[in-house]
Amino acid sequence: MKFFIDTANLKDIKKGISIGVVDGVTTNPSLMGQENITNHKSINEHYKKICEMIDGDVSVEVISNNYHDMISEGVLLSKIHKNIIVKVPMGLDGIKAIKFFTDNNIKTNCTLVFSVSQALLASKVGATYISPFIGRLDDIDNDGLNLIKDIKIAYSNYNVKTKILAASIRSGLHISKCSLIGVDCITSPLKHILSLFNHPLTDIGIKKFENDFNRYINK
Ligand code: G3P
Repeated sequence: MKFFIDTANLKDIKKGISIGVVDGVTTNPSLMGQENITNHKSINEHYKKICEMIDGDVSVEVISNNYHDMISEGVLLSKIHKNIIVKVPMGLDGIKAIKFFTDNNIKTNCTLVFSVSQALLASKVGATYISPFIGRLDDIDNDGLNLIKDIKIAYSNYNVKTKILAASIRSGLHISKCSLIGVDCITSPLKHILSLFNHPLTDIGIKKFENDFNRYINK
């Protein structure tokens, strides 16, 4: 399972990469808004910096909400760097835009996926990735992981090539459950990736090894 880091923060990306478990980056307009970016030119420079940090896919989202503007924006974004994946929101215009990008060899990530039917539509037009949002479904008392399971079944039924990139991850448990479902990738904030390291028995075990070594050998 590929681990993408869900942030536009260069420090977090650097830290994630330095651990050796991060395969790529996903951003969205809200995450970009948290960085100190004040104009359109710096948006693209920021994306370029991210792409130069990692040899992996970097999803960057179009802001436009109509087909023609999505196309022109996505084409420009795709030219920033070879690692760019153009992230397009689900919807009629989005699906048409993804079809255009597929036909023009531009890789895509269909975002804001909340149902199996939306996942099917994205795969029909050749999306490289789909991003179903687990946490935001949990927030409204739906089971986000259930959606991931269902999409996995639907895609397996037809040998679909579109990759499932589980997004809106809110815990380390979401990540490990995704691996049991067998999704292709997850994207998560750094803190939940770091939480995967934690187990109280590991901490107790390390302390015991250290104490025993000092007690019997290192007297
Ligand atoms: O980037 C898409 C997704 O991961 C957003 O997550 O936490 O804003 O629901 P969240």
